[in-house]
Amino acid sequence: MPNAEGRKVALITGVCGQDGSYLTELLLEKGYIVHGLKRRSSSFNHPRLEHILDKDYPNSKNFILHYADMVDSTSLTNLLKLTQPDEIYNLAAQSHVKVSFELPEYTAAASGMGALNLLEAVRGAGLADKTRIYQASTSEMFGKVHEVPQSETTPFHPRSPYGVAKVYAFWIFVNYRESYNMFCCNGILFNHESPRRGETFVTRKITMAAARIKLGLQDCVSLGNLDAKRDWGHAKDYVEAMWRILQQDKADDFVVATGITTTVRAFCEWSFNRAGLPLRWEGEGVNERGIVASGEHEGKVVVKVSERFFRPAEVELLLGDPAKAKAVLGWHPEQLTSVEKLCEEMVDADMELAKLEIMNVEMKKKLKVPY
Ligand code: NAP
Ligand code: GDD
Repeated sequence: MPNAEGRKVALITGVCGQDGSYLTELLLEKGYIVHGLKRRSSSFNHPRLEHILDKDYPNSKNFILHYADMVDSTSLTNLLKLTQPDEIYNLAAQSHVKVSFELPEYTAAASGMGALNLLEAVRGAGLADKTRIYQASTSEMFGKVHEVPQSETTPFHPRSPYGVAKVYAFWIFVNYRESYNMFCCNGILFNHESPRRGETFVTRKITMAAARIKLGLQDCVSLGNLDAKRDWGHAKDYVEAMWRILQQDKADDFVVATGITTTVRAFCEWSFNRAGLPLRWEGEGVNERGIVASGEHEGKVVVKVSERFFRPAEVELLLGDPAKAKAVLGWHPEQLTSVEKLCEEMVDADMELAKLEIMNVEMKKKLKVPY
């Protein structure tokens, strides 16, 4: 696709996801033409992009969505020939760890082979020398961690079909860099969250529940392993690191993390506290309960533990060492959003959404909308 204005052109796969939406905002702000790859869905699947598609959004005209799929190589080659991107950000994946145990083959195809399909499409479109490519690699590759904290040199030991698929994608990126001298980079990102996080990831599940329980829309939330530890940052800060990775003189791989780890339990306590429902815990194992400790709802059980949310193999602890990202990329997590602030932002946003939900329910009743 011609770029008459001399702007850089980017292609984002997985553009409809959490990171895709923040990265689109960042690149448009930097003056890029942004092409987004979305897959076909039976219902509207880009609510996170709605504001950007609004004609009044700055540079909205520079954002173009296309249908393609990571498991359809032809669609990828055609899209690359059409868009001729300077930079590709491969964010598309079946990204849910627990779901990957139920969909192992599809996860391998989309999150593992998808990376290879993309690299071959770049070569097939004659772009191997021109295009820089970012792969959304993950701390899940460290899995059963061999050292603490985890850095670029820590061995991988994935614990899920998702983690295994991502290890394949990581190495095929390294291999194409070494074999064909392509500008292929891996960002090994630790968990990053936001108010746009998918509703079934643990942080968002908790912040939504805290808000909805406070406003009477839900009674209780069931969770799995409360003692798992994650190194959580803000997605908006992490897409900045992705962009920096592709601006280096030399293609390389980077760990992107905060260097602070927090339990699911602590995130839960902060969230419910922010919603005005301070928690105390009672019981053990699957009998453990989170109970409102004081105030109007004192004594109400709001958190339960359910085996349903345990994983066949768990990643107990993730803690990243961002030293290389700090030194080379100039990306400094200590100056960015803290996990406590992130939690507050998510709960506050979910409070507003819960209020909207109440208004919607009332409106639908009034207007007699059938579903
Ligand atoms: P996300 O919200 O789940 O977004 C993933 C996107 O990929 C979705 O828009 C999804 O489409 C799309 N997708 C899935 N299968 C596809 C296929 N076959 N073809 C085309 N598109 C497909 O994930 P995220 O949190 O933004 O993460 C972005 C990437 O970073 C993912 O690759 C993830 O594995 C990786 N990562 C994430 C984290 C994190 O903590 N968020 C950390 C490390 C790495 P639909 O919207 O239609 O479902
Ligand atoms: N989803 C979920 N739901 N997780 C729960 C629950 C629950 O009800 N209860 C406890 N957990 C625990 C999980 O067992 C896990 O240890 C931790 O909370 C975090 O789970 P998720 O939020 O689902 O994230 P994840 O760490 O498995 O994977 C995310 O981060 C990876 C980077 O490390 C995803 O975004 C991956 O795509 C990403 O690669």
